[in-house]
Amino acid sequence: MSIDFGTDIYEEPIVAKTFLSEDAQEGSLRPKTLREYIGQEKAKGNLAVFIEAAKRRNESLDHVLLHGPPGLGKTTLAGIIAAEMGVNIRITSGPAIEKAGDLAALLTNLNENDILFVDEIHRLNRAVEEILYPAMEDHAIDIIIGKGPSANSIRLDLPHFTLIGATTRAGQLSAPLRDRFGVTLRLELYTPAELSEIVTRSAGILNVSIAPEGAMEIARRSRGTPRIANRMLRRVRDFAEVRADGVITRKVADEALRALEIDALGLDPIDHRMLHAIIENYGGGPVGLDTLAATIGEESVTLEDVYEPYLMQLGFLTRTPRGRCVTRKAYEHLGLGVPASMADAPEQLRLN
Ligand code: ADE
Repeated sequence: MSIDFGTDIYEEPIVAKTFLSEDAQEGSLRPKTLREYIGQEKAKGNLAVFIEAAKRRNESLDHVLLHGPPGLGKTTLAGIIAAEMGVNIRITSGPAIEKAGDLAALLTNLNENDILFVDEIHRLNRAVEEILYPAMEDHAIDIIIGKGPSANSIRLDLPHFTLIGATTRAGQLSAPLRDRFGVTLRLELYTPAELSEIVTRSAGILNVSIAPEGAMEIARRSRGTPRIANRMLRRVRDFAEVRADGVITRKVADEALRALEIDALGLDPIDHRMLHAIIENYGGGPVGLDTLAATIGEESVTLEDVYEPYLMQLGFLTRTPRGRCVTRKAYEHLGLGVPASMADAPEQLRLN
């Protein structure tokens, strides 16, 4: 059976870094316990021990910093930690806490052992961050009352709480803030096998019929990221229902994703523009990130946070002190002739 897939049905990019409207449904797909959470074995194993120990001592969990590329499940993991600890979680983000008073209000409303989750914690402003130091260390905040010479500082005790901070850029956290987290967990890109398990689980929740090869096709093309895998699943389901018999087979997934301009390894048009720009405008590199971003009309942070981690994991891109370079693997994937200067690189000698 040949399937005729139209193009340009969806306007929102599958790789988008931020939450899309459709991700509102993500809540129903989120695992609620560590046991249901697939992958991140190292982080999960450590967390299980810390949670068990804190519960046995009847104490709040130490402050936790989660870092890694977007879409890997940092918010999901924070929700699971709260559920496993049996405490409430308040969810906010660095840019949403504008003034010191906003943070003071959040902190004073927590109950004993509750969790405060701050997404994008690297975007907290300085004044707010300084309130956080004594709150994290001594469970207290210092409030200034009055102005000028008659101003007085009073110390307000807080309940014991756990701060869970999430960031895509741990390097941008100030050292005093970073040092106050007792636990730091780095989330890694998922393997295709793990993503295939996640897609199969999500399909079950969404009541979608999917063949194992269909799940693996989506997994291989979702760039190591569950949020992208779940977005792809919904879009491929639409194709399966409208243009086929509703079942996601490998063929349906392949044709749907091809129509959405996602290539066999999950690269989208922006990845392609990045690699082509480095090759065609800068001789394969090195080229600085900002120059590259300006060349293709994207923001540097988007390229750095969203696109580079996967291109580097594939071994298509390297970061050097002088800028970004493409590798011979990238030339080969794009079907371009490998330059003579790369022809006898050690990478090739190993491959042959
Ligand atoms: N949905 C999104 N991330 C997940 C994960 N790590 N495990 C299970 N389901 C998920």
